[in-house]
Amino acid sequence: MASRLVYGIDVGTTKIVAIAGRADSRRGWVEVLSMGEAPSYGLKRGVVVDREAATESVAEAIEACGGILRGTPVIVGIAGSHISSFNTEVTLLNRSRNRTITERFVRKLEAEARRVELGEGEKVVHVVPRSFVLDGIEGVKQPLGLAGRQVTMRAHIVSGAISSIQNLLAAVGDCGVKVSRVVLEPLASSEACLLDEDIGLGVALIDIGGGTTDIATFIRNTLTHTAVIPIGGESFSSDIGYGLKVPFETADELKLKYGNVLSHTVDDVAAVQIAGRYYNARFMSQILEYRAREVLEYTRESLEKARVLNLLPGGAVLTGGGSLLEGMDTLAEKILGMRTRRSAPRRVKGNSEPVQKPQYSTAVGLLYFAAKNNDLRPKSKGAEQVSFGSIVTAVKGWFRGR
Ligand SMILES: Nc1ncnc2c1ncn2[C@@H]1O[C@H](COP(=O)(O)OP(=O)(O)OP(=O)(O)O)[C@@H](O)[C@H]1O
Ligand SMILES: [Mg+2]
Repeated sequence: MASRLVYGIDVGTTKIVAIAGRADSRRGWVEVLSMGEAPSYGLKRGVVVDREAATESVAEAIEACGGILRGTPVIVGIAGSHISSFNTEVTLLNRSRNRTITERFVRKLEAEARRVELGEGEKVVHVVPRSFVLDGIEGVKQPLGLAGRQVTMRAHIVSGAISSIQNLLAAVGDCGVKVSRVVLEPLASSEACLLDEDIGLGVALIDIGGGTTDIATFIRNTLTHTAVIPIGGESFSSDIGYGLKVPFETADELKLKYGNVLSHTVDDVAAVQIAGRYYNARFMSQILEYRAREVLEYTRESLEKARVLNLLPGGAVLTGGGSLLEGMDTLAEKILGMRTRRSAPRRVKGNSEPVQKPQYSTAVGLLYFAAKNNDLRPKSKGAEQVSFGSIVTAVKGWFRGR
């Protein structure tokens, strides 16, 4: 079967998107068949803080999508400041008589990696294999069918707080949706935005959402680093609110209408106007620039700490609603020291216009993700109804097939 029906829910801090589509991961396209959106209540910085409000918002998005997500396996995006990630390695002896590495053995390595010690109340969300070492031979991307006795798997581990994951799943579950997998949001956005060439070269995806800025970097087709920074578009708006002494909603409107993070380009006698009142345009821009610099400097630090900053010839790709602020790409280019472009979802067939905005990168990416994973690893019997306990199997094998 070339294409398949896939479903996703992006539970964002400012909006929930329920999406249904058709995807062909082999040829690399998706077609959005239906999409529903609702304002998000009950979330703060990417995590559910009010189950009832969040459930109502999710239900509204599902309704707006035509209700078709009920009763089908759905992929749900996860983010939030409770997410952390790191690289690790595990080694096992392959005891099979002919030394051949089987899928079962790789799964054993993944299970071993999942046993990594985490903080209290933390749980592994993703184990993404990066490379393998077979009897001292480095750099093996795809070990299946190769011979090796002592096998090391290098993997990227993403973990999150059990309660936050449980709250997210409860809010979605309350709407009668079966969650088949949980996927780290920047990984989904990467699927929608990044070019294969860039992933091969080295590239950073930076999704500036409402509550958080999510990062994922890829080098030589491998996921090397993920991070969540607890600053997003809402922080920009509340800064304007404090600075200009206006309510959040007014500040948000001002930002959407006149927002620019390059304050030196803004005329210092110009004024912006809302509800009959005038504010200094340069001052507003200075407030935004201060926040933009902060989030980009955190991003730079995060890349530096992961030792990937100088390994990204493909540059940075900005997405998420926050990336729309004028001048964000120019400022990112300066602070990160690499070429930077904005991106909305790519390779969308059919009527793509409604999703051609950076706010929908995660939602569209969930569809790619669903198709890709299903193709790579046929699900075992009963796997459609994956419970909370087994969401940890989410990504396996995704990047291996690239
Ligand atoms: N044209 C624009 N200029 C500046 N900011 C914008 C623009 N359009 C949207 N935004 C901001 O983008 C943010 C929402 O982005 P997005 O929809 O990607 O977030 P989300 O997915 O709901 O949140 P998160 O991913 O953090 O959970 C809001 O803060 C909004 O004000
Ligand atoms: Mg988002």
